[in-house]
Amino acid sequence: MSKMRAVQIEKPGGDFQLVERAIPEPIAGQVRVKVEACGICYSDRYVKDGLNPLIKYPRIPGHEVVGVIDRVGTGVSGWNIGERVGIGWHGGHCFECRPCRHGDFINCQNTKTTAISHDGGYAEYMVSPSDALARVPTQLSSAEAAPLMCAGITTYNALRNSRARAGDLVAIQGIGGLGHLAIQFAAKMGFRTIAISRGKDKEKSARQLGADEFIDAASDNVSDALQSMGGARVIIATAPSAAGVGTLLSGLGVNGQLVLLAGTGEPFTVTPAQLVRGRKSIQGWASGHAGDWEDTLNFCALTGIRPIIETVPLKQAAKAYQRMMSNQARFRMVLEISKS
Ligand SMILES: NC(=O)c1ccc[n+]([C@@H]2O[C@H](COP(=O)([O-])OP(=O)(O)OC[C@H]3O[C@@H](n4cnc5c(N)ncnc54)[C@H](OP(=O)(O)O)[C@@H]3O)[C@@H](O)[C@H]2O)c1
Ligand SMILES: [Zn+2]
Repeated sequence: MSKMRAVQIEKPGGDFQLVERAIPEPIAGQVRVKVEACGICYSDRYVKDGLNPLIKYPRIPGHEVVGVIDRVGTGVSGWNIGERVGIGWHGGHCFECRPCRHGDFINCQNTKTTAISHDGGYAEYMVSPSDALARVPTQLSSAEAAPLMCAGITTYNALRNSRARAGDLVAIQGIGGLGHLAIQFAAKMGFRTIAISRGKDKEKSARQLGADEFIDAASDNVSDALQSMGGARVIIATAPSAAGVGTLLSGLGVNGQLVLLAGTGEPFTVTPAQLVRGRKSIQGWASGHAGDWEDTLNFCALTGIRPIIETVPLKQAAKAYQRMMSNQARFRMVLEISKS
């Protein structure tokens, strides 16, 4: 049987292990992809630390995948060997539940998830349902396209489905993998874009990426700073911590919307009065489906938006993950699978 190199987590809380595994065969409805690049997302923690009871171990993480189809399973139409595709968090839908029947694939009640339901892209090959594939435009290299499959699509989709309209004040909190793309999307969508980060380290980069203003959450009062600019119409919160929710809420203007992207299990306290006064709302947003992925990739090809990446070979997955978790990555770590 042919073998491939992969990085797996053997058990919840286990280390990243570089191993040899059998190359997977696509079953009906799936394709096999020869992986070229895979981004490292904070949500890889779900696999690393066993945060989802559905995960079966050993499991290969990675849901920001770009590669080339090298085998097509039975019953798959519209996809051919040699096509370059992207694969994100959402790993296919059932087409039978009520959300699916209404075209709301993000909320499929029987949804599969890449790296949760099946192995992901920290490997030379992976298989994926064919309804969870996006075509990658030629303008983007595989390493550039990979982070767009989760960090990109999530922030692009959250912004384009938000209440913000061109010219509105939009703030992005947490300038990491998601945040540095959110700044670029917000700026290109025509919003007055504010970056919120802890410390001044990222100010220069944030402004270069398109931020009009920068708030240092470590030394400035975030809500006062936002109110002095008129109050935010939308705040996209990417920090994996619920501690700042109350402050961000106070920084919203009338009809303002706080969109939470980090699905932490931490509780936060908000009083109804904080929402009623000024008709404010708090919303969560989860990723998107294959159609949204293609929209994100095409928007980046059109506007010149690119993630800022640091690339490493597959065998350095553990180090790269640690670099991201310790807030040293600038701004997305990407595994280049062909690098040795
Ligand atoms: N909703 C979805 O579909 C979806 C999709 C992908 C990821 N996520 C989630 O989004 C979050 C961000 O992911 P990411 O890949 O962008 O992570 P990341 O690259 O580590 O960036 C997160 C940023 O948040 C800030 N931060 C980190 N720890 C913090 C803390 N304790 N308190 C306040 N700020 C903190 C840092 O920015 P500063 O240095 O600028 O403060 C950091 O760069 C994660 O929780 C991830 O699981 C959700
Ligand atoms: Zn992700």
